[in-house]
Order: sequence, then structure tokens, then C-alpha cells
Amino acid sequence: MPMPPRSFAEPAFLNVIYHDRVVGTLAQDPNGLLVFEYSSEWIADGFSISPFSLPLEKRVFVAKPHPLNGVFGVFDDSLPDGWGRLLVDRLLRRHGADPFDVGVLARLSIIGASGLGALEYVPAMSLASQPGIEDLDNIAAECARMLRTDFSEDLDALFALGGSSGGARPKIMTDVDGSAWIIKFPSSHDAADAGLHEYRMACAAQRCGIIMPEVRLFPSRECAGYFGTRRFDRRRDAQGNAHKVHMVSAGGLLETSHRIPNLDYDLLMRLALRLTDSFDCVEQLYRLMCFNVLAGNRDDHAKNFSFIFDEDARAWRLSPAYDLTQSEGMNGEHATMVNGKGRGIELDDLVDVGQRAGMSLRKARAIASEVEEAVRTGLL
Ligand SMILES: Nc1ncnc2c1ncn2[C@@H]1O[C@H](COP(=O)(O)OP(=O)(O)OP(=O)(O)O)[C@@H](O)[C@H]1O
Ligand SMILES: [Mg+2]
Repeated sequence: MPMPPRSFAEPAFLNVIYHDRVVGTLAQDPNGLLVFEYSSEWIADGFSISPFSLPLEKRVFVAKPHPLNGVFGVFDDSLPDGWGRLLVDRLLRRHGADPFDVGVLARLSIIGASGLGALEYVPAMSLASQPGIEDLDNIAAECARMLRTDFSEDLDALFALGGSSGGARPKIMTDVDGSAWIIKFPSSHDAADAGLHEYRMACAAQRCGIIMPEVRLFPSRECAGYFGTRRFDRRRDAQGNAHKVHMVSAGGLLETSHRIPNLDYDLLMRLALRLTDSFDCVEQLYRLMCFNVLAGNRDDHAKNFSFIFDEDARAWRLSPAYDLTQSEGMNGEHATMVNGKGRGIELDDLVDVGQRAGMSLRKARAIASEVEEAVRTGLL
């Protein structure tokens, strides 16, 4: 339905909010780079939302122009990726705006309080009403139609359900039995049984000792099922109150783009140790690396690893694993290099990385063999 044109002018500034408290203020400098300053109240007893580029200090930070187009990684994580961005851009067009003219502050304000993780942006700008479709098969069909034809009569509903999601694939963020879940649908490149496949990969990863969120295969009349994962950026306290959990991807922390394959697992493990101060997290990452190589998940890019901030312990830890799929990767290469290699990776390469991260030869070998055995028996 045509709509009267609306203005999506850049707000002069945005407040960044965490649990109803002002973390700081965002604006843009004349070159279009984001500038950020923590509020004095937050400096007094808050925490750094991205310790390497935004340490908890009273000064004005200016984002680098590259490779995240002048956006700090932690805020870039709030912006929708492939699918969510497609929905936002379609809706902007329907509102008479050219998506190319809508800048980062307006886009963050469209995210408002609906983003992944715990950061919220005020003032928020509302683009669509509440979701109207509930049946998963209908949503999947609408997503497929949208990808095929650029058109959906339920654009508002798709946007309300998935407009602030990350990642390339169609997905919705929804409540299941009182908890927050993400449910994914096949993209145009995926096989129809992609949901079953991701579910099997997640179960195999669990058997490899990798910490996963609860996962489910949601039933479908049309395919083998839709993959769902319970959100680890939402939690309930002992009294049953819901809380948002702050999370940042490895790419966000390192201010790098997941579209550039410039990471290696040595760096990721050093990052994990510096941030979490916990060798358990390094070991978790080592297991995940072994799994990614041995199960063939080559889409191991910088947004597919995240860290979450545990406010009670005031400490960072590696998030549970997600987005584990057998994938070709670019030219058959892992997005994150292993022992300097993107392909042709052998067990000794895994062990070398583990040892450099501080693991004993025995332990590194034992974990790699354990994962190899579990993948062989679990994925066949
Ligand atoms: N269980 C979860 N809890 C919280 N956040 C999650 C969870 N699973 C995924 N996410 C977030 O949602 C984003 C998108 O999910 P995911 O990576 O599975 O989607 P995708 O479309 O397959 O991604 P890609 O573009 O990497 O193929 C992730 O980058 C992560 O930030
Ligand atoms: Mg992903």
C-alpha cells in the first residue's frame, strides 16, 4: 500500500542505553565518522562496552573510517545484516525514502530497543506495526517470496519479527514457551533441509563438548523442520525477571568486518584470553576450531564468534556457539585461518594452534581426537 513520504533525517545525536541507564551519547563528525562519549554516571560504575576501542574513560572517541565505514564495531553489531537490512531497506522504500540516503544514526534509531544484545538507542524511530503472521510455514513462504520477488504483503510483519536480526539468512526473533528464541528459514542458496542440517550440526557440536544454547527443530508441513536456538543474550534472574545481556562479536571487538577474511584462530584465542582472563574460554574456542575444521564449517567469520558480559561477575566470557553449518566458504577456504591455512588443514595444524594458545601437547591432541571421533560418528 503506498504511503505518504516520511523523513528519515539523521538524528543529531542518540543516547545509548543499557538496562534503562545512559551509557553514553553517539553523534557524527563532519566526515560522517561516529563519535561516542560515555556519560559521567556510566563512567562512575558502568563497564566498557567494547574494551579495546572504547575503554571506560571520559573522552570523545572517533571511529575509524575503515573497514566499518566509520561505525564502532560494537554499534555495527546492532545494525541488521543481510536479511534484516533487506527488510529495513524495503520498508524505507515503501515510506518513500531512498535507503542510500538513510545514515547510521537513523538506522540505529530504527533498531531502538529491538536489537540483539543489550544496547538500545534513544530516540527510537518506529517503522512498522506488530507482527500478524504466526504460522512458521507461512513465515517461511513469505520469506521465500520476498527473496524471489522483492515483495511481500506481510512486509510489516516480517520486519517486526526479523528486521533487527543479524546474519544473512531469513529469521525471526520470537517467544517460545516464555523464552526468547531465534528461528531461521532457508535462504535462496540453502537446500530445503537446511534447518535439519543445522540442527544435526548443533547436536554434533554438543557431543563434542562445545557449549551450545538450547536448540530445537520446529516442525513444518513443508520441509524437515526449522532450526531454532534459544537466545543467550536474554536471561531470567532467580525471580523470573527478564534481562538483556550485552554481547559483542569478535569482529565488533577488533573493529574489523566479517566480510574481510583477515582473522586467524591464534588471534581469536589471544583475544579470548585477554578479554575473559579464563583459560576455559580458550579451550572452548579450541574445541570450536577443531569442530569447524573437522565438520566443515568454513563460514567461521568474525561475526560468528561472540563474547558476552556477565554483569553479576563483572566479567566477559565466550558466548555459546551458534551458526554451525557445513559450508563451502569462499573458494573452499575457512574465513578464519588455522595455522596460517584456509584449506588443507590437518590434525597437526589444530594441535599447533592449541599449543601456541598455551595448551599442553597432550591436551591439544586429546581434544582434537575427541572432536574428530564425535564428528565422525555423529554426523554420518
Ligand atoms: N542463540 C543465540 N542467542 C543470541 N544471539 C544469537 C544466537 N544465535 C545467533 N545469534 C546472533 O544472531 C546473528 C545471526 O545468527 P546466525 O549467525 O545463526 O545467522 P546466519 O544468517 O546464518 O548468519 P551468516 O550470515 O553468518 O550465515 C549472529 O551473528 C548472532 O549475533
Ligand atoms: Mg552467522
